Amino acid sequence: MTIMKNRDITQDELLRGEKDPLTSTPVHLLELDKVGKHYGNIIALSDVTMAVDAGRVTCVLGDNGAGKSTLIKIIAGLHKHDAGTFSIFGEPRHLNSPREALDAGIAAVYQDLAVVSLMPIWRNFFLGSELTTGVGPFKRLDVETMKQITKKELQEMGIDLRDVEQPIGQLSGGERQCVAIARAVHFGAKVLILDEPTAALGVKQSGVVLRYILQARDRGLGVIFITHNPHHAFPVGDRFLLLKRGKSIGYYNKKDITLEELTAQMAGGAELAELAHELESLGGHSDVVAEVEAEVASTEPRRS
Ligand SMILES: Nc1ncnc2c1ncn2[C@@H]1O[C@H](COP(=O)(O)OP(=O)(O)O)[C@@H](O)[C@H]1O
Ligand SMILES: [Mg+2]
Repeated sequence: MTIMKNRDITQDELLRGEKDPLTSTPVHLLELDKVGKHYGNIIALSDVTMAVDAGRVTCVLGDNGAGKSTLIKIIAGLHKHDAGTFSIFGEPRHLNSPREALDAGIAAVYQDLAVVSLMPIWRNFFLGSELTTGVGPFKRLDVETMKQITKKELQEMGIDLRDVEQPIGQLSGGERQCVAIARAVHFGAKVLILDEPTAALGVKQSGVVLRYILQARDRGLGVIFITHNPHHAFPVGDRFLLLKRGKSIGYYNKKDITLEELTAQMAGGAELAELAHELESLGGHSDVVAEVEAEVASTEPRRS
């Protein structure tokens, strides 16, 4: 009989969400356990627990000032947390820079994308990681290969752009987000953070971006989708973290929450009801009261 040695768990196994053989607990791509951060006296984030897995979308929802950006900055290596544990592949880490985050496979796509509008799409795709050909004085940009790869990667994401020579500034906001997602996938991201990618977009374009979130998920990335819109989060999310004034007010698996409940939690259903009552007692304008009451009614969780 041979004795099975404890073997090292490979990154591939972790990506498939295998259990750590030493502890037999599931290892997540990323895991935050009671993470907190303050800026001077301001507690920007406290007691936040969430996980990110390969092929899953974790949504982070919250209003302005909820702490969403602070959370993302911790994960993307821009700020350090000062409470709790942030683990990558089961290993507790404090990231010192965005470079360290990238090396760990964490890529962030910010709302105000850093693109050079007048440069062609393929130049932006390879910005900072240009391919070259030849050596020494004969070294030059490998334009053809970069164009081909850009075209191929965009096509694989289902993005059909006629011409990668087109200046990226001519693309719509949604298309630019999609190019950024395809870029992160190409350069080997394992975790993709999208900070409010649909906030500035119309309904149709938001739909396009949501579709690419699913594409990234299906290609095995762990996606973190930040938004304040439950209607965008619910159809694509597997897990939902709700933040309010720096605190977690809920963390749900999709099977444990409905869109109506998510919307009600986001809108602060109870607070709206209170406001309607207050307006009425103040002899508020009846139109306004009716409007707030309608809002309250529309956010009531569905009884089942
Ligand atoms: N660099 C900073 N210095 C001081 N306070 C900050 C800083 N960044 C964020 N905050 C505060 O932390 C809280 C959470 O902000 P933020 O993470 O930006 O929220 P969100 O992205 O959800 O709107 C807010 O009260 C904000 O004013
Ligand atoms: Mg923000």
